[in-house]
Amino acid sequence: MPNFEELKSEIAKRFDEADSLEALNDLRIEYLGKKGKIADLMKQMKSVPKEEKREFGQAVNQIKTETSALFDEKKRALEAKALEEKLASETIDLTLPGRKPAHGNLNPLTLIEQELEDLFIGLGYQVIEGDEVVDDLYCFERANIPKDHPARDMQDSLYLDPEHLLRTHTTAIQMKVLEQDAPNPIKVVCPGKVYRRDDDDATHSHQFMQMEGLVIGEHVPLSDLKGTLEFFARKMFGEEREIRFRPSFFPFTEPSVEVDVSCHMCGGKGCPTCKGTGWIEILGAGEVNPKVLEMAGYDSTKMNGFAFGIGIERVAMLKYGIDDIRHFYTNDQRFNELFDRMD
Ligand code: PHE
Repeated sequence: MPNFEELKSEIAKRFDEADSLEALNDLRIEYLGKKGKIADLMKQMKSVPKEEKREFGQAVNQIKTETSALFDEKKRALEAKALEEKLASETIDLTLPGRKPAHGNLNPLTLIEQELEDLFIGLGYQVIEGDEVVDDLYCFERANIPKDHPARDMQDSLYLDPEHLLRTHTTAIQMKVLEQDAPNPIKVVCPGKVYRRDDDDATHSHQFMQMEGLVIGEHVPLSDLKGTLEFFARKMFGEEREIRFRPSFFPFTEPSVEVDVSCHMCGGKGCPTCKGTGWIEILGAGEVNPKVLEMAGYDSTKMNGFAFGIGIERVAMLKYGIDDIRHFYTNDQRFNELFDRMD
């Protein structure tokens, strides 16, 4: 008689130790397979003495039943463990905040430009854009800045050839509008990029944006300019804002003024933004020089008007408290996104 008890405990131990479904299947073949150890025992039946056959047969059958049960039990356990591991590796934490898909947003300069356009359209202005490469004629000559005029030193320019350059101010658009519309009235704003031969730093950029306004008609009073700019200042910087004119010089306007807005940070008391003065210099403006009108084909005794030039970066920097002009052009998404939320 083989030692059935020993075999049973061997089987129990080995099944217990099986740590994968593959290992378990190998055991099944080893013990329960057609040529397995239990089948071998059955084959020994012939040589077992008659009186022991019954006992032997029962013992082998019992081992076979128990082994099958062990196999089934272990298989279920290993399958459950495998499923658990699979689920653990695929866990989704439903409490995690979702990831927002990134979306583009408009540059703050575009936002300010649009705001300004809306404002002036509301006052009856037409928006006119022009070419960035312009004739020297429209950029300087027609703006009363002749070749030998010291005013040319005011703007270091990027020439493509002796006659063409990247426009240094949006005045270049206006000089063309003047020529095209003479002798009729005009009410336009001209936004766009302008270029100067400047080294970039916190307050200078070789490329920046302007928006210039031009109004021509019969008897256009300078008080209209003041009213228009006051409206602009209050819309952009708050209803409490005041403006003041200081005498200045531009070749294409006569008289020329520098326009200050009462500081929107301190309300005029004096703070670091307005350098303690209560006023912030915001733009240049003036009565269109009669010479400029004549060159474009107007009769300056019948028609007059005013022009003003707004720096879009300057407005954006003041409005949002931005201290470095380069932020607008480096396209750091963290910077651009700020203005999406402000909107
Ligand atoms: N063209 C001037 C500049 O670029 C600004 C300006 C425009 C001043 C219109 C007066 C009138 O600095």
